Amino acid sequence: MEHHHHHRGQWGSNLGFLMATVGAAVGLGNIWAFPNKMGKNGGFAFLVIYLILAATIGFVIMLSELAIGRKVGRSVLVSYQSVCGRWGTFIGWLAMLSPFLILSFYTVLGGYCVQYMVLNFSELVGLTQISHLSGAESFQDMLTNQPVSILFTFLFIAACYFIIRGGIKDGIERFNKVGMPALFIMLVIVILRSVTLPGAVEGLKFMFAPNFAPLKENFLSVLSAAGGQMFFSLSLAMGITVTYGSYLSKKESLIKNSVLVIVSDTLVAIMAGVAVLPASFALGGSGAELSGPKLLFITLQDVFNAMGPLGPLFGILFYLLVSLAAITSAIALVEVLVTFFLDRAAIKGRHGSRGKIVGLVCLAVMVEATLVAADGLGSNGLWIPFHEAGLSLSSSWLDFMDFISEGVAMPLGALIMSILVGWVIGPKLVREEVCVEGNRFGNRLFAFYSFCIRFVAPAGMLMILLGQLATFFTPV
Ligand code: PHE
Repeated sequence: MEHHHHHRGQWGSNLGFLMATVGAAVGLGNIWAFPNKMGKNGGFAFLVIYLILAATIGFVIMLSELAIGRKVGRSVLVSYQSVCGRWGTFIGWLAMLSPFLILSFYTVLGGYCVQYMVLNFSELVGLTQISHLSGAESFQDMLTNQPVSILFTFLFIAACYFIIRGGIKDGIERFNKVGMPALFIMLVIVILRSVTLPGAVEGLKFMFAPNFAPLKENFLSVLSAAGGQMFFSLSLAMGITVTYGSYLSKKESLIKNSVLVIVSDTLVAIMAGVAVLPASFALGGSGAELSGPKLLFITLQDVFNAMGPLGPLFGILFYLLVSLAAITSAIALVEVLVTFFLDRAAIKGRHGSRGKIVGLVCLAVMVEATLVAADGLGSNGLWIPFHEAGLSLSSSWLDFMDFISEGVAMPLGALIMSILVGWVIGPKLVREEVCVEGNRFGNRLFAFYSFCIRFVAPAGMLMILLGQLATFFTPV
């Protein structure tokens, strides 16, 4: 096996790896879920709980994924198989099923973002006048226009194709090294506009004011909301961190990188809240939706419509930012599958063509995404599994795909992985990988890691799994 490794390629620099991994973590979840969850679940108190969970469960799972990926230097399936045996095969497949299913809707949402960018552009140059429609009306128009939704979904997937075809260093790394700083700058510009709107302060209060009532009423549900968000936001149990880690040089520090990814992702989530909530409170109208697709495509479009002449310009900027956040996550999801097929070819002694494999994976994603795009969040009367049950998981194809991946496969995979690392193969294996080429894993930190991976992570993942199931089985 060893002699094929030189075909695989590697990140050009640690910064490039970091930008790509932060790009994979920063996505729609940071923008449309975190700010509202924080506001509703206790403000600063929620943030503290989130940080504690990220520093314990998030940190140890991320570090373990990076270590296993880099140790084996192979796709997520082979990596888990070679350190965890038969159970590794099981979680390896889970970690490929989830990205594939997530892509079915993530690319549709990415396509919506691109559509909104175009809409605001044509408003700016006077081609169309969406500002005459309410945000809710233009959103409904988009959802029910199946051909256009499918077209933009395909455009989004095609963009992924062209980036990933270039390879780890000359494709993914190069794109993220420009895209992530650009995203950050745009976010700062949007924040400056948002917080200087009259009435913005209400949004800041909603998000940050400490409020212990939700914690007293139902601490467990706050805990599982924070855990589920942390887990999804860091893109754990998706094969992403294993895959990206498999291309990392042995010189680099896994501990430092894990901490930096977690800190950056959390920072962007907080910044997204400061960008989005003050503007929504100032211009979104009373009763505006503050989370999910409705926040992104209804409330915020209403905000841009109400902004006057500069509205479309901020609209373009904002939806470009969100498109970037989405595409850097989608790229990571596709690469998990691409790496799998490339490594499988290499193991069989063949030299797989990256271009061809990326093309085939993207085609398969187009097929499933067509279904989700045509469904338009359930607005077009398509048959949806378990629809009659009237549960959250069956309200649209998007929710159904999300249920299998985010609801079940991800937390289950991470639960099993933490048990395997903690109890079967043992935390020492991770320490060995962390310490190759002279990096240190201090005794105290290692004791903390071992304790968390053995006790805190399995217990936390079980709680998150149950919390997710409860959410998806809620009647709508
Ligand atoms: N972390 C991404 C977000 O916050 C979501 C995601 C999860 C993307 C898993 C890819 C894989 O939106």
